[in-house]
Amino acid sequence: MSLETDFIVIGSGVAGLRASIELAKGGASVAVLTKDKASESNTEYAQGGVAVVLSEDDNAELHEDDTLVAGAGLCDPLAVETLVTEGTKYIKELIDWGIEFDREGGKLLMGQEAAHSRRRILHAHGDSTGAEFVRSLIARAGAEKTINLTPFANTESLIINNGICVGVRFRDPVLRAPRELYAKAVIMCTGGAGQLYMHTTNPPVATGDGMAMAYFAGAEMADMEFVQFHPTALDLEKAPRFLLTEAMRGEGGILKNKYGERFMPHYDERLELAPRDIVSRSIVAEMRRTGTRNVFLDMTALDEDFLKHRFPKIYATCATFGLNIAKDPLPVSPASHYCMGGIRTDLWGRSTLPGLYAAGEVTCTGVHGANRLASNSLLEGLVFGARAGEAAAKDSSEFRVPSSGLGTPKLGTWNSGLGTAMSTAVKKRVKRIMWERVGIIRDRDSLRRALKEFEQIAAGNLSTSSRNFVTLAKLVASAALWREESRGGHFRSDFPEQHEEWRVHSIQRLDTGISSASQMNFDTARAE
Ligand code: FAD
Ligand code: SIN
Repeated sequence: MSLETDFIVIGSGVAGLRASIELAKGGASVAVLTKDKASESNTEYAQGGVAVVLSEDDNAELHEDDTLVAGAGLCDPLAVETLVTEGTKYIKELIDWGIEFDREGGKLLMGQEAAHSRRRILHAHGDSTGAEFVRSLIARAGAEKTINLTPFANTESLIINNGICVGVRFRDPVLRAPRELYAKAVIMCTGGAGQLYMHTTNPPVATGDGMAMAYFAGAEMADMEFVQFHPTALDLEKAPRFLLTEAMRGEGGILKNKYGERFMPHYDERLELAPRDIVSRSIVAEMRRTGTRNVFLDMTALDEDFLKHRFPKIYATCATFGLNIAKDPLPVSPASHYCMGGIRTDLWGRSTLPGLYAAGEVTCTGVHGANRLASNSLLEGLVFGARAGEAAAKDSSEFRVPSSGLGTPKLGTWNSGLGTAMSTAVKKRVKRIMWERVGIIRDRDSLRRALKEFEQIAAGNLSTSSRNFVTLAKLVASAALWREESRGGHFRSDFPEQHEEWRVHSIQRLDTGISSASQMNFDTARAE
């Protein structure tokens, strides 16, 4: 059974919602398919806020410089310029649409986060910025009559005809059966893959499905080795790794070891506000040195009323675990948080596969380089979601929706139909291997062993989603093995230095394996 629509958007986080709103502007029909309830996404859980140039002492060049420094030589300067300059416009638009950022006396409040040279982080309800993004974008999308959002519609593969992406295969939540949906273009907005790791700040939906679907359909993947580990996730036995936002350190939080000693002065002169990869590795080093499984985030020098007001969600969540953030040092350790790599796109969200567009954390636009600057990704989802929507609409203005049942669709090598839900055992095994061997600190031996185990797992009889998951793990491990240097979020203990000859992007493709590219934007690269 199949259906037709003008456009398909997969995912309902910031990127997917913003792309759908853009597509609906011209009256096109837009089907948004999303895996869980509409709000369930990384976006929903974003705490710290969104970085944007809006204050008098700030400007686009400063935001651009901070982003480029964090990206450790691998950002695409044009992508960064696009992000910071268009970011202001899209945030103002969001304010017009009704998002409520925190204010004092009517003036927007700006928070501070690591590696930002200015206070430029807008936040909402203290530490619930993402939920406010979702609320306001869902309300705006809901006002568009041609957007049809289907929750619990898990998508597992793309339909390719004559080398063009013409639709998707998803599980219809009402029929409880696989279904094909055809469109002029598909925009992949499925977010990141934090769940590849045993410890993560990401919700269960963040399994990187869109990356795997695009890879199997023939799209290029870029910079998959770059994974960001957030330094401060709450570390309590049997509790999920709840994020303790970097803004807590921005407000004066201090990291201490089990002896109550502040240890960051031994590792970096920027102390607790050093870039995330450095703070995460410092914590690992301190845990190893002191033989512990966590360190502590100490907020006790700050006033309890201030903390309650500034971090209401964190205050309340920690209280449910018996912790008063104003009185108790909070046990923390790093956890996987963000994928810098993903589907290679140009500045308009076009992937290398015709008909397939992508936006948000699922992509590699070149905005983040080897390490993402804190609070740049909500902005990225907004800016590049809108751009991808605009480009998909323009590029396909002369197209008709491909009629359904175009012969036998090529569903990707392993897609012989929709498999059952991902096997818990496979998922657990992959997550453990990723954490232990492809984690914060890597080396050749650990990566080779990881790859060998992934090959063994892949040789089994797996459901489509399990195969997608292990394939993604292989992509990250292969790229990490390939890159014989340390840069940004990728640290190799056997190659601890950064090298100029490695200032290139890893590119992975189903049919050609791994190669390098000096430019992220493939139009620029091809023109050279
Ligand atoms: P997501 O918001 O993750 O949305 C992906 C969507 O795709 C979801 O709706 C999901 O259900 C759907 N989906 C996934 N797979 C499928 C499938 N197979 N079929 C159908 N649908 C599917 N960034 C900031 O800039 N500032 C912050 O303060 C901040 N804090 C963060 C805090 C936490 C705890 C986390 C986890 C991340 C944080 N980030 C922050 C990062 C940021 O939230 C994300 O990078 C960003 O929201 C990603 O948006 P997205 O639209 O690309 O993906
Ligand atoms: C945080 O609030 O610390 C997360 C911000 C981000 O990931 O950008």
